[in-house]
Amino acid sequence: MPSIVLDAQAIVREFAGPAGTLRVLDGVSLEVAAGDSVAVTGPSGSGKSTLLHILGTLDRPTEGKLRILDQDPFELGQRDLARFRNRHIGFVFQEHYLLPQCTALENVLVPTIVSGGQGGSFRERATSLLRRVGLGERMDHLPAELSGGERQRVAIVRALVNRPELVLADEPTGNLDPDTADDVADLFIELCRDERVALIVVTHNLDLAARMNRCFRLQGGKLNECPPQPTA
Ligand SMILES: Nc1ncnc2c1ncn2[C@@H]1O[C@H](COP(=O)(O)OP(=O)(O)O)[C@@H](O)[C@H]1O
Ligand SMILES: [Mg+2]
Repeated sequence: MPSIVLDAQAIVREFAGPAGTLRVLDGVSLEVAAGDSVAVTGPSGSGKSTLLHILGTLDRPTEGKLRILDQDPFELGQRDLARFRNRHIGFVFQEHYLLPQCTALENVLVPTIVSGGQGGSFRERATSLLRRVGLGERMDHLPAELSGGERQRVAIVRALVNRPELVLADEPTGNLDPDTADDVADLFIELCRDERVALIVVTHNLDLAARMNRCFRLQGGKLNECPPQPTA
């Protein structure tokens, strides 16, 4: 039996707006196991980022149940929740959010400071992951001295450095030109497979979506599995 990393049941998220309540998520359920990968597509404004924030425990659902690694994260106090998130969830956003004054290697090590890990072994892991994504010669560069694709590769390594069981990505290749996007997607998928993470990727990039094990579309607050693509 594959181990379930994320189990979301009937998630509802409403926002209060001037014209009344906006029900952005209307009963979304999703289970993701270790080593599994899921794409979420859907029109702009359909609630993809809202869903990813809830699955990442950055926002609370109005209704519904979320379990991550058999824990209801919203039962935790603020401090324990922050620690839980730091240990178990890696995030990759469209913007890299690297610290401009820190080198590539230092940026990758930021999450390990919070987790209070044994500095030496994390440093080894960070450098070996940076080499894996082709940045062995760029570890001491500042973000401004890297290309867009290189910066996003640093952000991916940073997301994985603490060995999270769950990785959430919101348009991870959205700011990159198509060729660079392909290269970054290749490395991202390869690393997530090797690490056997449960991966959820929100993307407009249909090539990237097609490379996930399962593909869902979010529309009208509902999440529906896309029919399998006919093989040519
Ligand atoms: N904090 C918020 N307060 C009010 N409305 C919000 C908030 N966050 C998102 N929304 C609304 O929810 C809808 C979905 O937004 P979002 O999740 O960002 O969509 P997507 O990522 O699919 O483009 C939008 O109509 C947006 O305006
Ligand atoms: Mg979005």
